Amino acid sequence: MKRLLYLLSTTIGRKLIVALTGIVLILFVVGHISGNLTIYIGQSALNNYAHFLQTSPMLWVMRLSMLAIVMLHVALGVAVTQENSLARPESCHAGQSWYLHVYQRRMIISGLVLLAFIAVHVAHLTLGAGIGEVFRLKDASGHVDVYSRVVTTFQNAWIAWAYIAAMMFLAIHLKHTVRAVFQTLGFSRESYFEFLEFLSWMVTLAVVGGFISIPLSVQLGWLALL
Ligand code: HEM
Repeated sequence: MKRLLYLLSTTIGRKLIVALTGIVLILFVVGHISGNLTIYIGQSALNNYAHFLQTSPMLWVMRLSMLAIVMLHVALGVAVTQENSLARPESCHAGQSWYLHVYQRRMIISGLVLLAFIAVHVAHLTLGAGIGEVFRLKDASGHVDVYSRVVTTFQNAWIAWAYIAAMMFLAIHLKHTVRAVFQTLGFSRESYFEFLEFLSWMVTLAVVGGFISIPLSVQLGWLALL
């Protein structure tokens, strides 16, 4: 605890915490999309996966830890961005300073949109707000029918396209986060830049492409109610 407080009191410590919480959040979205893609195997595959998570004895430990991690990431992310703006040297090249400004604004805006998205998404798909009767459906094994919940939701074109739009903000945030996290952790030599750029594009395209594919497949009729 003492160490955490010490880290929080220094700029480099705050940057490190943003990077470490960023890694956990990247792992979360990679895990979440991997689980969600079982929807293509079939109804019972997705429902069994959701049942496994919902009945895990660690569920609430994980939920509360993730909540703390998101809050730390957002609060310190905003603080570090403001500190960077204030510390920007006068001598900084005009083009460089403009780029930094656009980059910081992009990260803050995309991050805040994602925060709002997560709040609506959890209220919607986890707590069942606005889903109606389908929220109480069970499949043949008696498991919560998450498959029907997802498909019914995305049969509404407004919701499907709103999710796809939100995923654009995830793309912006993820693309920059993957590279920034590695740079903060010390991979900042120029020779690493090309590889980090490649890695951040690959992770972003795989994760965001996977998420977008689900509402899109429902809209195109490739995923339907059984
Ligand atoms: C098309 C994209 C997405 C789909 C289809 C989807 C699907 C789902 C479903 C079905 C649940 C509820 C699971 C259950 O009750 O067992 C859920 C929960 C959740 N999702 Fe997503 N999700 C998507 C995108 C995202 C993204 C991009 C994020 C984060 C940036 C995210 C974060 C969460 C969180 C935090 C929960 C709550 C987990 C819990 O129950 O504690 N989701 N998602």
